[in-house]
Formats: sequence, C-alpha cells, structure tokens
Amino acid sequence: MTQVATQPPQATSGLRDVVALSSDICSIEDGVLTYRGIVIDELAEFGTFEEIVYLLWYGRLPKLDELAEFKADLAEQAQLPSALIDMMKTFPKRTTPMECLRTAVSAMAIFDPESEDMSPAANQRKAVRILGQMASVVAAYDRIRNGREPVSPKRDLSLAGNFLYMLRGMAPEPLAVRALDKAYILHADHELNASTFTARVSAATLTDMHSAICAAICALKGPLHGGANEQVMKMLNEIGSPASVEAYIRQKLASHEKIMGFGHAVYKNGDPRAKHLREMSRQLGKLTRQEQWYEMSVKIEDIVTGSKGLKPNVDFYSASVYHYLNIPSDLFTPIFAISRTSGWIAHINEQYARNKLIRPRAEYIGPRNQHWIGIEKR
Ligand code: COA
Repeated sequence: MTQVATQPPQATSGLRDVVALSSDICSIEDGVLTYRGIVIDELAEFGTFEEIVYLLWYGRLPKLDELAEFKADLAEQAQLPSALIDMMKTFPKRTTPMECLRTAVSAMAIFDPESEDMSPAANQRKAVRILGQMASVVAAYDRIRNGREPVSPKRDLSLAGNFLYMLRGMAPEPLAVRALDKAYILHADHELNASTFTARVSAATLTDMHSAICAAICALKGPLHGGANEQVMKMLNEIGSPASVEAYIRQKLASHEKIMGFGHAVYKNGDPRAKHLREMSRQLGKLTRQEQWYEMSVKIEDIVTGSKGLKPNVDFYSASVYHYLNIPSDLFTPIFAISRTSGWIAHINEQYARNKLIRPRAEYIGPRNQHWIGIEKR
C-alpha cells in the first residue's frame, strides 16, 4: 500500500487507484494493456495461448523447441488422477461447473505429491499440472453431468484444442480452436484484478500454489468479476431477439439495474480486449448463420454506451463468442478461470520471488468508548 501512518489512514473505496505493489508482468497504462511490454493487440493477432503462457511465466517468448516441449508437457500433465474423476462423479447433480472447479482444484492438491513443496522447481512443475488439469476438470465435469465418460487429453493438441476435444469427444474444428485460443489470450492476465489480487494476497502468506489458485477461483466466481459473462448470456437469452432489445435495456436502465458486461474499474474509455471479441462474435455469427446474438449485443452496446457512456468490457462479447462455439453458458466462467490461471500463476510466482506479506489497514468507523454490559442488562 502507499503508506501507513501512525494514525490509521482514511479508507479508499474499493482500493481504486491505490498502487498496492510493483510487478513486471502486465500493465494497463493510458488504457493500453500489455503482457511483458507487448500490446494485447499484437498478442491476440500473432500469438498462441501457449506462447502467451510461456511469456507470462518466463518473461520472454519461447523458441521453437521450447514451445514444442512446453505444449507437450501441458498436454501430458493435463491427465486427471482417476480418483479425482471418481470424486467428481459423486457430486450432487445441482453442482455448477464453477463449484466443481473450486472443489476439484482443492482436491488436485491432495493428489499432487508436490503440493506442499515450495521450491521454485516444484512450483514450475505444479504450474504446468494445474493449468492442464483445470481444463480437464471443466471438460470432464460437463461430460459426467451429461452421463458420459470423461475423455483423456491428446498430446498433440493445444490447450484450447484439447479442451474442445475433451468436451465433445471428437476432433475440434480448427476455427473453433483458434477462436477459443484467442479468447484465452485476451483473458490471460489483467494486472491486479480482484482474483489476481486475491491470489497474491494468499501467496504472500506463503501458502502453496493450489491454495492460492483456489482463493483466486472463489474471487473470480462473483458476478461483478468473472461471473459477468454467464450473466450476459442469461440476459441475451431473456431478450431473445434484436427487436426486443430496446424495451428490455431501457427498462433495466430506468430501474437503475446494472447491465452485465459494461463498465470497468480501470478503463473509462473502453476495454481494449472488447473489440477483438466483438469482431470474433461478428465473424462467428456469420459463419454459424445465427447473427441474432451478435446483432442483439451490438444493439445493447449502442443503447448502453449512448445513454450511460458505459463501454463493453471483456465479458460482454465473450458471451456470444462462447455461445457460437456451442459451449454451455455455465462453462463461460470456468473457461475464464482456465485462461486466467496463467496470469494467476505468473503473479503467484512473482509474489513468492519478492515476497512481502500484504496487510493493509482499515479505517475504523464504529462506536468508541463503549463498555461491557452484563448479560442480564442487555
Ligand atoms: N450498468 C449500469 N450502470 C453501471 C454499470 C453497468 N454495468 N457499471 C457501472 N454503472 C454505474 C453505477 O450504477 C454507478 O452509477 P451511480 O454513480 O449513478 O451510482 C456508476 O456507474 C459507477 O459504478 P461503480 O460500480 O461504482 O463503478 P466501478 O468502476 O466501481 O465498477 C464494475 C466497475 C465492473 C464493478 C461495474 O462497472 C459493474 O458492476 N459492471 C457490471 C459487471 C461486469 O461486467 N463485470 C465484469 C468486469 S470486467
């Protein structure tokens, strides 16, 4: 935190504009987002998710042989312990994929022989396992809840390719793989967002990597953070057609309800990731001949931006993109979690490497000079 005086400082609502730590992973400056100094537009256009993960974790882009080895390692380590699959089969039917992921990551630690090994080498190996296995958990759970057996990952597929393969049990379309890969890149890291800050606060106590990831998942789950994309899809489903957008949104705005997928705590002139997802949504709408989801989204954007000045954030167009990829809406936030795990791990390792316990102060606004009241007099 900026400073701690002898007198407790005044609270900053939501820690807005408080610079909590220094980091060399991700920057948001003047509305421009970079990972390790490379602008998100270049990463999204030229990169693959594995290259971006390598960049986030090791601070540079991988060479050809390093990338091949890294991809193979990720695919190999993505295999789930059979005991974990058995455990997931016992979950009550009403368990949501995000609840399953929260529990499964905690259980992944139990089955990981290195879970409590805090050496940098063990943390590097665990990073690969956690990222690979998280995607496998989400895909496996969707199959289990639909009465199907989980499918093992393939060594020759990328993380995005393997996710779609494990979800459907058949070779994924290259276009779908590229779309998901790009969405993964756009969601990979975002400076001190709520879940990454949670991961760093946890890691700063020197808890293990699985525990810090669990904490981050819990923070991502909320509708004001990663849960927003699922809420956007719910809204699109409720609206149903482009003709119904105007009345629906005007009514929400009139009753001061938040429109999910709009606004941002840091960007005030637009989220630089949104335009990429908007374009992907447009292209996928055309390709699948289901342009109504894209059209509804554009209409919503016109009204919300026109009347409130609020711009779409990363969650808004990712909803229609995932829907076009035929992904059930309650997997949207788990997919965000899979991608953001790459950023969480980069931040957890950075925290371990130059650790300082994160312990801010609270401004006390409660009563003072109170006295104990005996139970008979209360
Ligand atoms: N729809 C309608 N109004 C919104 C809004 C939205 N999505 N986001 C912010 N506002 C309004 C608030 O109602 C508030 O209005 P008021 O001053 O009249 O009370 C004002 O804008 C400031 O809102 P606040 O929530 O304090 O802004 P913030 O910068 O702290 O919030 C978010 C950032 C992301 C939490 C907020 O924009 C939001 O809740 N968005 C919807 C959820 C979402 O998409 N989350 C994903 C973020 S990537």
